[in-house]
Amino acid sequence: MAMRKDLHIKVILLFLAVAFIFSCSPKSDYKTLSFFFDGVPDPDKQDSIAQADSIRLAERQELTFTKVVKTEFVLHPPYQEKECENCHDKGQMGKLLEPLPGLCYQCHESFGDQYKVVHGPVDAGFCIKCHSPHMSKNDFMLLRTGQDLCLDCHMAKDVFKNEVHADIEDANCTECHNPHGGDDRFMFN
Ligand code: HEC
Ligand code: HEC
Ligand code: HEC
Ligand code: HEC
Ligand code: HEC
Repeated sequence: MAMRKDLHIKVILLFLAVAFIFSCSPKSDYKTLSFFFDGVPDPDKQDSIAQADSIRLAERQELTFTKVVKTEFVLHPPYQEKECENCHDKGQMGKLLEPLPGLCYQCHESFGDQYKVVHGPVDAGFCIKCHSPHMSKNDFMLLRTGQDLCLDCHMAKDVFKNEVHADIEDANCTECHNPHGGDDRFMFN
């Protein structure tokens, strides 16, 4: 019986406490709540918390912003315009209308007409060893940047064995060589 009464008193006290919490000003809410729980924000400090929050938000937005800028794609105009059938068989999207480089020369001037010597992979129509036909994150829709573009096929140990390349450090190969062709076999710019 005594237990029962005890329980009744506890329930009433709890009810009062809850009523008290809900009827109080933010300041006394804070006092009551922080008596029961840890980590309740102090309303006197709300301004600085709000400020810290808005700084954090701004930082997050800036982060998102730089991410967006970095993942922007360079799109091939016929791909962007959804003119897929300029290159693909309409009924069979994976199939090309004609083999490369002819496919590309429908719209781009043939490098064979522009240069006396044409770079091996360009002549053989391996355009997509260097370019994406659709889009990429790099200028000119290149698949790789810097020396990596060339060192994918030309072995670094062979290239750097040649003394003409001894001091190029991380210069782009295209500072001296044209990637498509030229007047002689070395295709100088
Ligand atoms: C400038 C020509 C060109 C245009 C325009 C083009 N593609 Fe492609 N597409 C290619 C080439 C080249 C390949 C590579 C084929 C290969 O690897 O043999 C390819 C590959 C593909 C593939 C095979 C999977 C892959 O990604 O390698 C699909 C699917 C595809 N294209 C869909 C599309 C769609 C959809 C569009 C239009 C929004 C489109 N293409 C526009 C040239 C083009
Ligand atoms: C239907 C026409 C069309 C076909 C086919 C086509 N292109 Fe293009 N391409 C364009 C146009 C339009 C541009 C933008 C103007 C320009 O740079 O000539 C362009 C631009 C490019 C650029 C330069 C992008 C830049 O950032 O300046 C590259 C690289 C390129 N094309 C590669 C290819 C390759 C590789 C193929 C074959 C797989 C191909 N194109 C086939 C229409 C075409
Ligand atoms: C060995 C790598 C490589 C191959 C293979 C290659 N390209 Fe390029 N291409 C480049 C690079 C690098 C650029 C950037 C411009 C520069 O450095 O001269 C470029 C630029 C371009 C451009 C835009 C500027 C210009 O010179 O007209 C077009 C269009 C283009 N390539 C089309 C093609 C086509 C079509 C093929 C195949 C017939 C091809 N490329 C094969 C590396 C290559
Ligand atoms: C897809 C493979 C491939 C890529 C990528 C490539 N090449 Fe080549 N390159 C060749 C082939 C194949 C030859 C012709 C065979 C040979 O003579 O070694 C060649 C020949 C050359 C030659 C003439 C070599 C000679 O002794 O006559 C030079 C210079 C050259 N490439 C420079 C470059 C540069 C610069 C790049 C990057 C923009 C590059 N290559 C990217 C495959 C490639
Ligand atoms: C500072 C200018 C310059 C730069 C940058 C450059 N080259 Fe060369 N490259 C030359 C010269 C000059 C020759 C001619 C050598 C000769 O006459 O024997 C040459 C020759 C070549 C050859 C043919 C001879 C050989 O060594 O096989 C290839 C392939 C080649 N370069 C690839 C590359 C690649 C790949 C890169 C980038 C990693 C590159 N070059 C960067 C100037 C340069």
